[in-house]
Amino acid sequence: MKYNFCAGPSILPPEVFADAAKGVLDFEGSGLSILEISHRSDAFGSVLSECEQLVRELLGVPGGYSILFLQGGASAQFAQLPLNLLPIEGRAGYMDTGVWANKAIREAQKIGRVDVVASSADQNYTYIPQGYDIPEDLAYLHLTSNNTIYGTEFFEFPVTPVPLVSDMSSDIFSRVFDVSKFGTIYAGAQKNLGPAGLALVIVKDDLLGRTGRVLPSIFDYQQHISARSLYHTPPVFAIYVALLNLRWLKAKGGVAVVEQENIIKARVLYEEIDRNSLFRATANPSDRSRMNVVFVADTKEVESEFLVFAQQRGLVGLKGHRSVGGFRASIYNAMTIQGVNALVDAMQEFEDQYKR
Ligand SMILES: Cc1ncc(COP(=O)(O)O)c(C=O)c1O
Repeated sequence: MKYNFCAGPSILPPEVFADAAKGVLDFEGSGLSILEISHRSDAFGSVLSECEQLVRELLGVPGGYSILFLQGGASAQFAQLPLNLLPIEGRAGYMDTGVWANKAIREAQKIGRVDVVASSADQNYTYIPQGYDIPEDLAYLHLTSNNTIYGTEFFEFPVTPVPLVSDMSSDIFSRVFDVSKFGTIYAGAQKNLGPAGLALVIVKDDLLGRTGRVLPSIFDYQQHISARSLYHTPPVFAIYVALLNLRWLKAKGGVAVVEQENIIKARVLYEEIDRNSLFRATANPSDRSRMNVVFVADTKEVESEFLVFAQQRGLVGLKGHRSVGGFRASIYNAMTIQGVNALVDAMQEFEDQYKR
């Protein structure tokens, strides 16, 4: 038995893997693989519309928003979003809260004017900034709702006079939030949605068509909206697996139910980190991510030893990102409380052995 704490690509529920495997061999009794059917077939059309429907239902997406399933991951959105929302003469506001937020900033700067309205770079991105001004003439304010690498998360979103845009790659579907507070949301799929190779974009229709830019069709949200994500061949397998995962989420009771589980899993793990004399969490306590639990030990030796110790117990994917070091336990929706308990047990055993 292995528990995989990888940050992404990451675990999905075992039943989703099993159903995806079936679909590769024989998609819903068609005698064909999901990998070989046309993206314009009725069968795939049903996959796409059910997937869209489930996104709407599970997140409570109100009318007036389009749902897109695009290629290029979240990184493509770092560029595609300003191309579609930032007017040639306008400026956009960005919050600099980590590596991904920073990449989003750098890409947007290639497209137009960007103002960084707040940053937590001064303390190695260990906190979510508070108390900053948001100029009223921004085309939008961009933030990264969960900072996968540094393990910080926005638990309150800024109230803005301008459209709020969020990269929700690593916390979408993990907690309840009000979509109507956002102008656009995007997410790479490979955490709580599905396999890599897919980005979900939820965009408020009335924000489009205001930039004065003429875009290549492939980068134009409006083209994808008009074609209902079939402007070209979409990532069919990733969309299919996302559908299976969203069905799983719905059968569990939806986002509110997994949110409660996620709160408990995160609490159990942070409590152990705080208690254990060998480990220390890096993020500001009130901003600690429920998805990516980042912690360190006092020395590199202890860190390497614990990684081996954990690996021997089937706990994998715990090595922290190179910019923080230490450990990162990603406890997405599909991670069970048993997995978290197994990690906690390993931390306690390791401490006992270490002290002897
Ligand atoms: C918050 C966040 N944004 C963006 C990305 C980049 O996503 P992709 O690799 O799909 O481009 C990641 C990847 O982990 C992420 O965690």
